[in-house]
Amino acid sequence: MSQLTSLRWIDGHLELLDQTLLPGEITWKAMPDLATLREAIIALRVRGAPAIGVAAGYGIAEHTDRVAKTLDAGAAAEALRQEFSKAFEILVTSRPTAVNLRWALERQRDCYEGHVGILTAKEMAARLIMEARRIHAEDIQLCSRIADNGAPLLAACSGVMTICNTGALATAGVGTAFGCIHRAVERGAAFTVYPSETRPLLQGARLTALELHLAGIPVKLMTDNMAASVMRRRLVQAVIAGADRITANGDAANKIGTYQLAVLARYHGIPFYIAAPYSTFDCNLASGDLIEIEERNANEVRSFQGILSTHPDVGVVNPAFDVTPAELITAIITERGVIHHPTTNKVMAMMK
Ligand code: MRU
Repeated sequence: MSQLTSLRWIDGHLELLDQTLLPGEITWKAMPDLATLREAIIALRVRGAPAIGVAAGYGIAEHTDRVAKTLDAGAAAEALRQEFSKAFEILVTSRPTAVNLRWALERQRDCYEGHVGILTAKEMAARLIMEARRIHAEDIQLCSRIADNGAPLLAACSGVMTICNTGALATAGVGTAFGCIHRAVERGAAFTVYPSETRPLLQGARLTALELHLAGIPVKLMTDNMAASVMRRRLVQAVIAGADRITANGDAANKIGTYQLAVLARYHGIPFYIAAPYSTFDCNLASGDLIEIEERNANEVRSFQGILSTHPDVGVVNPAFDVTPAELITAIITERGVIHHPTTNKVMAMMK
């Protein structure tokens, strides 16, 4: 196992690498229907904002293709529209915070609307599959450009802290924050990466530490409550994270625990970076206060992989994300360039 990818399109079908089984097992899962894909997104078999978007783009296209094959030419247009709308709703409601999911589905909806009355049902399905492939290819390019823009910011570090997983498993390419780390090392930087474990589901331990290890990048995994101590000991000179949604003013929603790293980084005088593509920006929202934060099943906190770590009836909070205010973000790294000390004017200028 030398290289991991989050998803693949094989013989006209979407397959996902089941990330819930990592690092122990490499299992590819087909998505024969919408219910299976929705379950896979909710259960985090595919996860990471860009990867969810790419998967949804393929998912709605594959569903349209399945339906188109069953339709009589006469009634096809209306039936196809109904199925497309149903698929849109089923997928867009699977996870509320990562805006890339809605972005990809809306891009497919625009594609659909742009070809109504021009293409037959089968041609429409083929066109949506083409669009999904474009979204996929574009994400690879976006990651690479983010990596180019972010790598110089990490070049002089001897230690870099990160959280959750923002690598190949979270995107279709080299990753966002992880991509910057990877590119900096490719260009000769010599640092150790300190990923936080990222409770409750351990994406940092299970996925990021694995990706770093496979890439041959020095890694020291830390539990989430070690971050302040690692910073105080001056073991890291930068913190870099991804994002699930960035609002017009530069506030960034990301995996729960990101905000506390930003607060700690400010206290210790360490730069805090967010890396994300344009598809993660939601400039319709003025600030992060307006972002819907996904609340997940309480049992994720009460236990891990079926083993209880507390009494089964204790109350639990389980927000999957938090919002880091723009004032704590040193810079947002995008494929278009770096937004230093983000403000609404700077974000809108970059994203217009
Ligand atoms: O709940 P997850 O595992 O989907 O959360 C993922 C994250 O928070 C990532 O940091 C974010 O999606 C950026 S991915 C490049």
